[in-house]
Amino acid sequence: MIPITKPFYDQAEENAAALAIRSGWVVQGPRVLEFEKMVADLVGAQYALATSNCTTALHLSLLALGIGAGDEVIVPSYSFIASANSILHAGATPVFVDIDARTYNMDPALIEEKITPRTKAIMPVHQIGLAADIDTIQDIARKHNLIVIEDAATMIGGEYKNKKIGTHSRAVCFSFHPRKAITTGEGGMVTTNDPDIAHQIEMLRSHGANVSDYARHGADRVIIEEYPILGYNFRLTDIQGAIGVEQMKKLDWILQRRLEIGKRYNDAFADLDFIETPYEPPYAKHTYQSYCLRVAHNAPKTRDEIMAAMQAQGIATRRGVMASHLEPFYVNKYGRVSLPVTEQATRDTILLPIYAQMTEQEQETVIAAFRRILGA
Ligand SMILES: Cc1ncc(COP(=O)(O)O)c(C=O)c1O
Repeated sequence: MIPITKPFYDQAEENAAALAIRSGWVVQGPRVLEFEKMVADLVGAQYALATSNCTTALHLSLLALGIGAGDEVIVPSYSFIASANSILHAGATPVFVDIDARTYNMDPALIEEKITPRTKAIMPVHQIGLAADIDTIQDIARKHNLIVIEDAATMIGGEYKNKKIGTHSRAVCFSFHPRKAITTGEGGMVTTNDPDIAHQIEMLRSHGANVSDYARHGADRVIIEEYPILGYNFRLTDIQGAIGVEQMKKLDWILQRRLEIGKRYNDAFADLDFIETPYEPPYAKHTYQSYCLRVAHNAPKTRDEIMAAMQAQGIATRRGVMASHLEPFYVNKYGRVSLPVTEQATRDTILLPIYAQMTEQEQETVIAAFRRILGA
């Protein structure tokens, strides 16, 4: 079976995790600090705060920015359901906006009609490795005095206008789930240049304590911590931090490999007029966190037929991104919202296997099977 993705781990991650275990310090500590520093340096942010996953990173970013009950946050439905869920977890209301049919990201032209007196923030999602049009979104946010929090779950190492994602907004949230370029199993990170946000997140992720366990442990005097606010336990472990450090060392190579594989797929399907390969807007290059094709209505097979036939040949595929507003929970809560571009994209898109260590032979197998199924 060719999987949809797999992590790129070798002896380095195994050794690093073993060292963390043997050190006797396995909760958030020195290795998480090192991982945070590497991410902060990579994106050019003053602060990087690790969290248990990107959903909790988004949740805490919203709380740290004072977003909660009575507030609305504009977010694409065309995203993993965690984007919208994080807004509800913070006590606010997600307001779904449609996407651009080519980039699959939030369509800035549709944002203003969603703004109400209760709107407090916009949460653009950089979908499957392509940056949303942040400058245009920031212009709208400034005009209406709104906060921008980026869901950059898929975007570690990616760029917008040749600048790394991670500092364009007040808070930017990354994921290290195994479907992402680098992974710590579960894991998340918030980057920010705002010391108040960083401080709030530090406390919120650790039960609201004003001093971390590791700082108390390393102090030369007894420190008794206080809990000035209601917090959570959304910490990353040091075993995961150790893996994150090793993954960060591989990031450039992993992103380069994904680029090569993505481009090879693009070339392999360029002649099929019923298949749409990923689009690149002038402001961003794709990092292919997932490799997504759109199957046009004149294709000889439907998206679902292609997926079934690929599965039968031992090749995993996935539907493109979900439409959160169509999930039963959101339909029950808010009724049926109409987002035509999102609904079509979620019906017509398919993800093909992509991972850094994918061999030429494996990719040839995928390409040949896909073309054969379509009689091309
Ligand atoms: C766009 C987007 N947002 C949020 C998440 C949630 O990330 P995590 O699984 O780290 O909580 C994901 C990941 O799956 C995602 O793709």
